[in-house]
Amino acid sequence: MEGENMIEKEMQFRFKDIFEMEHPEIILKRAQPFIELMMEYQCALMEVETKLNVLNEEFASKYKRNPFESIKSRIKEPLSIINKMKRKGFEMSVESMEKNLFDIAGIRVICSFCDDIYTIAELLTRQDDIILVETKDYIKNPKANGYRSLHLILDIPIFLSTGKKHMKVEVQFRTIAMDFWASLEHKLKYKKDIEHSEEIAEELKDCADVIATMDCKMQEIRNKIEGNL
Ligand code: GTP
Ligand code: MG
Repeated sequence: MEGENMIEKEMQFRFKDIFEMEHPEIILKRAQPFIELMMEYQCALMEVETKLNVLNEEFASKYKRNPFESIKSRIKEPLSIINKMKRKGFEMSVESMEKNLFDIAGIRVICSFCDDIYTIAELLTRQDDIILVETKDYIKNPKANGYRSLHLILDIPIFLSTGKKHMKVEVQFRTIAMDFWASLEHKLKYKKDIEHSEEIAEELKDCADVIATMDCKMQEIRNKIEGNL
């Protein structure tokens, strides 16, 4: 029940512009398949979030610690979906969105330590209703600009009145330090609509490397402390 209300509220918020248009009923009718697809992605997010929350509870109870700093989920904005479809040259239809875009539903999981990322990712993908579609390990292989994160595309079933439906969800795992860099880099990148100059790009890359070194050090400290217990 609570989930239903959440979806309804989310949908009303996301499509509020339509209600302010001249013939909202006509637009809404046409947009219905799209709205339904977004609802299904919202359900898929709830499924993955629940799985993560279950792991968090178990860790808290068994090992007396929470591996997550935060878990945030979002559905891609309709305009971002359309722009991406155009950019990639995909056919403009609801079916094509579902077939071609794997990041309409996204979850960002911020972990305390780097090892936790791999532990949780393994525990999640090992579950028998989840199919791991794709892994991009930007921790072991950082992007040229210094970006680090572990990206997984998961296929997860949701159970609707019409039956079972498989949905794609992108999960990004980062440490607090990786998120610190990515958030600021994102702000710097999108504030000015220009590519970074070589010098700035180099400085940002240096910051990413310093942050990664610190992340490793914190992990080492934790390993030492745990080894001593
Ligand atoms: P798009 O999904 O079209 O962006 O291409 P892709 O699938 O090749 O992207 P990828 O999986 O590498 O990254 C997708 C997401 O990761 C982005 O939407 C961002 O949230 C994040 N990301 C990737 N690279 C960077 C980066 O250099 N800086 C920051 N701040 N975030 C990044
Ligand atoms: Mg992507």
